[in-house]
Amino acid sequence: MSAPLIELNSGVEIPQLGLGVWQATSDEAEQAVRFAIDEAHYRHIDTAAAYGNEAGVGEGIASSSVLRADVFLTTKLWNADHGYERALAAVDTSLRTLGTDYVDLYLIHWPLQDRDQLMRTWDAMEKILADGKAHSIGVCNFEPHHLQALIDRGGVLPAVDQVELHPHLQQRELREFAGEHGIAIESWSPLGGTSGSGWGPNSKPNTVLSDPTIGDIAAKYGRSPAQIVIAWHIRSGLIVIPKSVHDDRIKQNISVFDFELDDEDMERIASLDSGERVGMHPDDMNLDAPS
Ligand code: A2P
Repeated sequence: MSAPLIELNSGVEIPQLGLGVWQATSDEAEQAVRFAIDEAHYRHIDTAAAYGNEAGVGEGIASSSVLRADVFLTTKLWNADHGYERALAAVDTSLRTLGTDYVDLYLIHWPLQDRDQLMRTWDAMEKILADGKAHSIGVCNFEPHHLQALIDRGGVLPAVDQVELHPHLQQRELREFAGEHGIAIESWSPLGGTSGSGWGPNSKPNTVLSDPTIGDIAAKYGRSPAQIVIAWHIRSGLIVIPKSVHDDRIKQNISVFDFELDDEDMERIASLDSGERVGMHPDDMNLDAPS
């Protein structure tokens, strides 16, 4: 089973479902990536410099049975690398670590709080795009006001905005705003998070997979709660990157294209939006910002 493609505003196509690897070690990521490509038909891998596993991701792709060109690879610019020169150096470091000469998508990991510096970082992102080191550029964790700043600036718009998004945090306002500007939304922590404890100062445990409504719907379709949540992202038109380092879950998470949630179940899930985050609010994040 392979994921359908979505065309980004850059003209590049992205598989709607990919493998997330946050909190996987480099060795775990290598194994998970190879398995996902060779045994489960994933063609989209999402990593970040800050995950510390780009080397494993690169080795997983290189040692798989498919060509690098057949895998959509995303990595992200860490907070400490905001600023024009630092961003240009950071992409080169990521490419070296990944063992490739381009990424399909390069994202700013967090907007941070220095707006002028963010604009200089985006200048660098445009250069990275023009130099062919990334085939598309985008952002993560941008609220509408951050996107508006890039719209007002002119120039290349982000191809995607990758944000925390799951049935308990459905991000409707952001999705509408991004949609009006042709910016695709990618869901991080699409299953509600990578651990039982969440992260950040206001973090909550993962309550998505244990949500009774999701459980009811799972029983109705004879699917797992994770598959129901992923099917909801897919029918919502979102790009989704569930993380797992377990072979059975990696396979299960992409086995969602042979059924579709009906309207009634989409509405039941729509009613679960409590606005609860497992990660930090982007406006509060300034970790590792350059001084
Ligand atoms: P693991 O890697 O041990 O499988 P996210 O919302 O960030 O994608 O988080 C996914 C979390 O849920 C991870 O902790 C992952 O752990 C776990 N997970 C991934 N797939 C499944 C699944 N099919 N069923 C249950 N848990 C899953």
